[in-house]
Amino acid sequence: MPRRPPLPVRLWLAVDTPSVDDARRLAEVARTVGAGLKLGKEFFTANGPAAVRQLTLDARLPLFLDLKFHDIPNTVAAAVTAALPLRPAMLNVHALGGAAMITAAVAAAAAAAGSERPLVLAVTILTSLGDADLPALGVGEPVAVMVERLARLARECGADGVVCSPVEAARLRASLGGDCVLVVPGVRPVWAGSDDQKRVMTPAAALNAGADALVVGRPITAAADPLAAARRLVAEIADAG
Ligand code: C5P
Repeated sequence: MPRRPPLPVRLWLAVDTPSVDDARRLAEVARTVGAGLKLGKEFFTANGPAAVRQLTLDARLPLFLDLKFHDIPNTVAAAVTAALPLRPAMLNVHALGGAAMITAAVAAAAAAAGSERPLVLAVTILTSLGDADLPALGVGEPVAVMVERLARLARECGADGVVCSPVEAARLRASLGGDCVLVVPGVRPVWAGSDDQKRVMTPAAALNAGADALVVGRPITAAADPLAAARRLVAEIADAG
């Protein structure tokens, strides 16, 4: 894998809506505070790649394409190739797709020129799953062990980093080293509720735990004044150093 391009921004606004109009409003907020946009299955499935392109590439906003690819290696490689014209700064795959699949995704991303190569991130164990859920999947190890195992596998296969919960960040930073990109959702400033996120941290705590980038949705998108909330969050990130 060629040297990895730098992260364009540290804050990614999670735009989880099927509405193009709502997404446009949030994109303006992101632009104003210098954040990127994370667009995922909901927006993509409702509106397609043309709408993603309009919101991000055409508007010069960094894109984290959160489609969590998980399929046979050939199909995932083809999906990554199909995503490249959108020039995502980051995209992701499920580490549970296995070594050949991750390697194929990384190779497909590497076909993009230099700084246009997206960072390939791996999702390990979904944060919606707990220790009690894994035996039914035939997995006998606790979540924390599986997260580390899958993160290592992803790195061995050339992935640039992982998406992880803030409570996993410090341990992964220690075990995977400084070069591994850690992108962390589940971030909640003290002035926001925790919604359905169970294991939350403040932006400063997540960055101090080793996060390189934060994904934040509802503390901004559901705020009465999203721009004011985004500014407050950006100030907290700046204070964290
Ligand atoms: O609104 P909230 O800040 O909880 O949004 C977090 C975003 O990060 C959502 O888009 C959610 O799907 C995503 N995410 C997450 N936990 C993960 C992976 C992704 O919350 N482990």
